[in-house]
Amino acid sequence: MVVKTKILAVPPDGSGGDAAYREAARLLQKGELVAFPSETVYGLGGDACRLEAVEAIFRVKGRPSDNPLIVHVASADQALEFGVALDSRFTKLADTFWPGPLTLVLPLKASCQAITGKGLGTIALRVPGHPVALRLIRESGLALAAPSANLSGKPSPTTAQHVAQDLTDRVALILDGGPCRVGIESTVLDLSTSRSQILRPGSIDASSLAKMLGEPVELAKSEAVKLKSPGTRYQHYQPNAAVWILPEEMGPVLWSSFQKCIEQSGLRWGYAGMRHLSNPDVPRVTLQNTEESYAEGFYRALRWLDDRQVQVILIDSPPASSAALWDRLSRAAQAKASDIQTLKDLIAQKK
Ligand code: TXA
Ligand code: MG
Repeated sequence: MVVKTKILAVPPDGSGGDAAYREAARLLQKGELVAFPSETVYGLGGDACRLEAVEAIFRVKGRPSDNPLIVHVASADQALEFGVALDSRFTKLADTFWPGPLTLVLPLKASCQAITGKGLGTIALRVPGHPVALRLIRESGLALAAPSANLSGKPSPTTAQHVAQDLTDRVALILDGGPCRVGIESTVLDLSTSRSQILRPGSIDASSLAKMLGEPVELAKSEAVKLKSPGTRYQHYQPNAAVWILPEEMGPVLWSSFQKCIEQSGLRWGYAGMRHLSNPDVPRVTLQNTEESYAEGFYRALRWLDDRQVQVILIDSPPASSAALWDRLSRAAQAKASDIQTLKDLIAQKK
């Protein structure tokens, strides 16, 4: 169904905007979709217990039908209406990290009405750490199924304008609460068995989780992830341009000849990172080399450079220690260039 999309701005601290929240809550209660800011990325929200809303989310995003959705709730108590806490891990983690960028996968409760788990027998739950998202959940009185509010496969949206680029006339309302603070999606942690496993890395890392639990937390092996969290096997986060990761060990001399080489190739290129550019006309976005700052700017950088219609995005490596950023970047990149010859080969293949 084609709808006319409204964008309503609300203060990021969750104050004011009464009419906008009322309208958003009314639409959600009617089974329609509302995009809203979270601290990670914008979400495309719909009533998690209503078939037509959940189906609309899949249709609007062009999302593969076996990729389950995260259910957003306002409290740990509300989460326990949907999932079963097997032991004390749930309460420990919810007390420490909620509201925040952590999604917990629990066994589905027998009475659970949500229809987002795609037959997995589990449910992914999160209390978002954004006042606008929390107020929207509370005012709607619902639990909100919400994937990232982008077309499937594209970089996730971290501003309302990004959402509008992908979903104008596919969603009834976008609540604009400003840019997202974290910039990459939540950590997904499986608590549905006695082994705590990360299915998708995020800004809350394995060591913080392990420290809190007082037991090991591992990053699930890719085969296990494919079974438990089917969504991770699909293409993700890819801009239209090809993305090439610049290795950290590439020094200024090699970087300089690298730029000459790509200039000679005739390809339109853009750059995201901290290096000096010989040609001031090349579109560039600064991406700082700390985990928080890189994550905050990452999807925005990919989308901004795509808007400049470049064919190739050269991007600095994120900090080596960030499993989450390497996960997102390696999915966004089609190939990794480690030297000029590789880059030339890749460019030749692209032509
Ligand atoms: O930060 C986030 O998590 C954002 C904001 C909007 O909350 N949402 C988000 O949703 O990233 P989405 O749909 O793009 O990613 C959901 C991830 C997928 O990797 C999916 O496979 C996993 O969560 N997931 C959902 N339900 C699951 C389940 N029952 N078991 C395992 N993984 C699940
Ligand atoms: Mg997504």
